[in-house]
Amino acid sequence: MSRKKKLERFAQIDTYAHVVQAPFGTVWEKDHPIKGRWREDFFRNDKPIVLELACGKGEYTVSMARLMPERNFLGVDRKGNRMWHGATQALGEALPNVGFLRTDIAFLDHVFAPGEVDEIWITFPDPQPNKPRKRLSGAVFLSRYARLAKPGAPVNLKTDSQELYHYTRALLQANHIPAERDIDDLYHSEWADDSLLSIRTFYEKMWLAEGKPITYLRFALPGGAALVEPTTAADHA
Ligand SMILES: C[S@@+](CC[C@H](N)C(=O)[O-])C[C@H]1O[C@@H](n2cnc3c(N)ncnc32)[C@H](O)[C@@H]1O
Repeated sequence: MSRKKKLERFAQIDTYAHVVQAPFGTVWEKDHPIKGRWREDFFRNDKPIVLELACGKGEYTVSMARLMPERNFLGVDRKGNRMWHGATQALGEALPNVGFLRTDIAFLDHVFAPGEVDEIWITFPDPQPNKPRKRLSGAVFLSRYARLAKPGAPVNLKTDSQELYHYTRALLQANHIPAERDIDDLYHSEWADDSLLSIRTFYEKMWLAEGKPITYLRFALPGGAALVEPTTAADHA
């Protein structure tokens, strides 16, 4: 995409009331003013808050919001030109329960208060093969989510990456967290037509076109606990 087009999109989402921007400078070692106030000041209701992390164009955020008007949905990504798609669509449809947050997920502690989040979706994150600390389903990030989410909040991970899927299963095992749902090939399973699980993101469509199986994991986050990385060979089996 041309730089001009990107700048146009940045300027446009800057005017959207349902997009909060928390770039590095505003959340580096300090809290964003919206922290602890998402229900009161942003959604203006008491409904549960569901995050889609690494939302890209925000397909899950917008589609879930259509399916579940009784919940609030917030797409989170650091790329404004991608979230522009979902943000513009939500605006066009006047969806009252959708927001977008442009920030780095590493700074979520400065944007959400403990217990402010009710559920998390992680959709096709970069697998980060050489950097477990940067994996959005790794111990560092899951421990961060556990600080912000209510105890027992569900986490949903959809990925095409076999490595990330098996790594996350091993991490759950190492932390004694049972998987509530574990599907190794979604579209060849009984869940293939499920209205929630069959929402397809931009990246998901690309991986499906390449014939890759899509995997899905759902588990409950232990409240406030610091999770550990899987270490032994058995953990990765
Ligand atoms: C492979 S794309 C997937 C996008 C979308 N979920 C999809 O399936 O089409 C990964 C996304 O994660 C975002 N991302 C990666 N690390 C991030 C971080 N630390 N903070 C915020 N966004 C991040 C990238 O900007 C990118 O949009």
